[in-house]
Amino acid sequence: MNPSIAILTGASRGLGRAMAAQLLQRGRHLLTIARHADPALDTLARERGATLTAWTLDLADAPAAAARLAGWLAAQPPADAVLVNNAALLSEPAPLRDGRDAELSAAVRVGLEAPLLLSAAFLRATDGWGTDRRVLNVSSGLGRRAMAGSASYCAVKAGMDHFSRALAMEESARSDGRRGARIVSLAPGVIDTDMQVQLRGADRTRFPDGAMFEALQTEGRLATPEEAARRVLAFLAREDFGTEPVADVRG
Ligand SMILES: NC(=O)c1ccc[n+]([C@@H]2O[C@H](COP(=O)([O-])OP(=O)(O)OC[C@H]3O[C@@H](n4cnc5c(N)ncnc54)[C@H](OP(=O)(O)O)[C@@H]3O)[C@@H](O)[C@H]2O)c1
Repeated sequence: MNPSIAILTGASRGLGRAMAAQLLQRGRHLLTIARHADPALDTLARERGATLTAWTLDLADAPAAAARLAGWLAAQPPADAVLVNNAALLSEPAPLRDGRDAELSAAVRVGLEAPLLLSAAFLRATDGWGTDRRVLNVSSGLGRRAMAGSASYCAVKAGMDHFSRALAMEESARSDGRRGARIVSLAPGVIDTDMQVQLRGADRTRFPDGAMFEALQTEGRLATPEEAARRVLAFLAREDFGTEPVADVRG
């Protein structure tokens, strides 16, 4: 698949920034969403003959972001299209009883509410297009395996996996004869990004698994964002994308 419309959240740093650079290809319109924009992506878009629309907005206000996406999609001509829900916000690693409510709430809104509402807006707006439409939710091994000190993150990613399963059922069994979208919630592997810095740097008395994250780095087991982006985007392009709604890029 070579979509001409790609929507990507969390494109300013880490895995999302690397995916944005790789998604900027001739003839494609990339819409990015994050709180910050990277002007270097504008230059890259011009060099590559791609179109870039960069929105700086806070996905903690998910209904506003979804409404804006719906309006934007309504103005686009039908095309093969992908939505990549990549943005996530880690609350400070610590037992839930020590967490700050505002931080926990933002983590769940950005990581779970926003992907759910953006997926709804995307599926609704493109439903009659008759094109190849895909939703890739960037999940984590921690959606499938619990870890103390990261309850909000585990909840976000487990929720993402499970709503992807339900969505895949809805889209694959269309009784109205329409072409359904394909959905995958994909664990991307461990990647050398700010999120890993936050996990390694966490207070060990409140997050003992911080030592494991430090070992991942010292043992050279973290992928670069560019390597991880290549793997994730190769998965997104697969012919059999969506056959298994919950997957891991490591196979
Ligand atoms: N790194 C890993 O080892 C690893 C492992 C498994 C899964 N993942 C998943 O991979 C994805 C990318 O992670 P990463 O490591 O690249 O994270 P990261 O370096 O922390 O980057 C997170 C991205 O999300 C955006 N974001 C955060 N809060 C936002 C908000 N309120 N509104 C809009 N955008 C927001 C950030 O942009 P702004 O700050 O500009 O808003 C940034 O672009 C996440 O879903 C993560 O859970 C990562």
